[in-house]
Amino acid sequence: MFATGCDNALSVMALKYNHDLTKRSDRVLVLGATGTIGRATTAALVRRGYDVTCVTRPGAGTPDQQINLPGAEVVEADVTESTSLYRTVFANASFDAVISCLASRNGAPNDAVAIDHHATVGAINAAKAAGVANFVLLSAICVQKPRLAFQHAKLAAEQALVASGLTYSIVRPTAYFKSLSGQIARVQRGKPYLLFGDGELTACTAISDRDLGEYLASCLADPMLQNRILPIGGPGPALTPRAQGEHLFSLLGRRPSFKHVPVGMMRGIVGALGAASRVLPPLSAKAEFARIGLYYATESMLVLDPETGRYDRDATPSTGHDTLFDYYAAVINGDTTVERGEHSVF
Ligand SMILES: NC(=O)c1ccc[n+]([C@@H]2O[C@H](COP(=O)([O-])OP(=O)(O)OC[C@H]3O[C@@H](n4cnc5c(N)ncnc54)[C@H](OP(=O)(O)O)[C@@H]3O)[C@@H](O)[C@H]2O)c1
Repeated sequence: MFATGCDNALSVMALKYNHDLTKRSDRVLVLGATGTIGRATTAALVRRGYDVTCVTRPGAGTPDQQINLPGAEVVEADVTESTSLYRTVFANASFDAVISCLASRNGAPNDAVAIDHHATVGAINAAKAAGVANFVLLSAICVQKPRLAFQHAKLAAEQALVASGLTYSIVRPTAYFKSLSGQIARVQRGKPYLLFGDGELTACTAISDRDLGEYLASCLADPMLQNRILPIGGPGPALTPRAQGEHLFSLLGRRPSFKHVPVGMMRGIVGALGAASRVLPPLSAKAEFARIGLYYATESMLVLDPETGRYDRDATPSTGHDTLFDYYAAVINGDTTVERGEHSVF
């Protein structure tokens, strides 16, 4: 399912173009630079003085689109076509490193295979054919317990990177602030905070975009972060959904009010949609979204202890300074807005 078979075509192209493989210092190519973490990583690289080139979709630079990647050069290429990526990007410039923040925008099975696996492996192969030394891959901590299509796609891409022979850093972050902020607006409108079960089923040490961008950028220069799989979270204790809700109410000066969604009901919906999708294949994306919801309702975003099968905050490394609760306060004060993606749980 995950074989791409484009290595030979790329090797031939590398010879045919015979471009200058002499590396200039510190040139970094960022894929997925228009996403939440891609933007933060690009900003971190620019701050650190790297010479940054970002790849965007063909046509993304039209006037109605907001590319806005200050300090970086932007080139257009179709990442789903690795020969196009090679021809339009790698054949025209040499890079010391690639950071891929590419991700399926919605986690639907077909899109996950196309982006989280095929496009990512295509980029790894193109980078290798072009003589790039380092490849940093943004993955996700949830691949340690893979049940969803996008998790299998990401794991297969991780394995391809390890097998590539490139110096690699595979970064597996915990939860992003945007994914834990979807209820701020509904609570501000006076509605109760939704909890799965009692709200204590899961916990995470959320990481900010800025702290994760800095961490990804630091993988280029820190040998301790190379040839490793790196689970990473933000600072502070692991927070349950209930603790997140309680803090939100305290920031708003209101008494906590929760509405509980039974996990059994979610399991029932997942089962029913799964069965229906076997008869009606167009329902399969909906069934997968329900599985994604159930997964995040019941699995913590922390390092999983393989011996006990339990999630372990103490085994989950932390980086950075930004806290989820400071972010909630900033959103409520109007100092920042939540840029929600399609990966968000609520
Ligand atoms: N949300 C969480 O809490 C969480 C936690 C841990 C890990 N993660 C993982 O982190 C990763 C990145 O998250 P993110 O929020 O930064 O992602 P995002 O905002 O959705 O950005 C995805 C990036 O990939 C690009 N992309 C997607 N499909 C493409 C296509 N067909 N052609 C070209 N480019 C395409 C997007 O380009 P366009 O702008 O052109 O669409 C964008 O630059 C995901 O893999 C996610 O699983 C998420």
